[in-house]
Amino acid sequence: MKFFVDTAEIDQIAELNELGMVDGVTTNPSLIMKSGRDITEVTKEICELISGPVSAEVTATKADGMIAEGLKLAEIAENIAVKVPLTWDGLKACKELRKEKLMVNVTLCFSANQALLAAKAGATFVSPFLGRLDDINLDGIALIDDIRCIYDNYGFETEILAASIRTVNHVLECARIGADVMTAPPKVIRNLANHPLTDQGLAVFLADIEKTGQKIL
Ligand code: G3P
Repeated sequence: MKFFVDTAEIDQIAELNELGMVDGVTTNPSLIMKSGRDITEVTKEICELISGPVSAEVTATKADGMIAEGLKLAEIAENIAVKVPLTWDGLKACKELRKEKLMVNVTLCFSANQALLAAKAGATFVSPFLGRLDDINLDGIALIDDIRCIYDNYGFETEILAASIRTVNHVLECARIGADVMTAPPKVIRNLANHPLTDQGLAVFLADIEKTGQKIL
């Protein structure tokens, strides 16, 4: 499973990238707002740092506007994936932008039928939002499972990019089901390394070696 980082914070992307944990980046208007940066500038910096796909989202709501914005965003770098919402206009924009050989991430997907439409429109990625479904007592993981089943049934090449990941268990379940990509905030990715037994075991090892008075260096 590929790891994308869901942030527009350059220093956090750089830190995870040094460890080889970043296969791509996803941004959205809220993350751009949070960064306090100019969308073009920060997206360019991310693209210079990361060679994998970097999702940048359009803000127009009509297909023509989305296409124009998508083409403009794509001028930033070759690894831009234009993010469009899962609306009929978004699907139309997806189809057109794919004709221009651009990567397209169809976002704000909340149902398997929507994901089916994204695949038929030739999306490079579809982004089902797990956490936001869980927030309203629906089952985000079940959605990933349904999309995997449907895409496999018909051999769709659209990659399932599990988004709105909030917990390490979301990551585990996505990997079990076979999501192609997951995008998570840096904190969730860092939390994947945590285990209380690791901390406990390490503390005992360090205490024991100290008792022997030995040092490696
Ligand atoms: O990139 C979109 C998505 O990951 C948003 O997550 O936590 O705002 O629902 P969240």
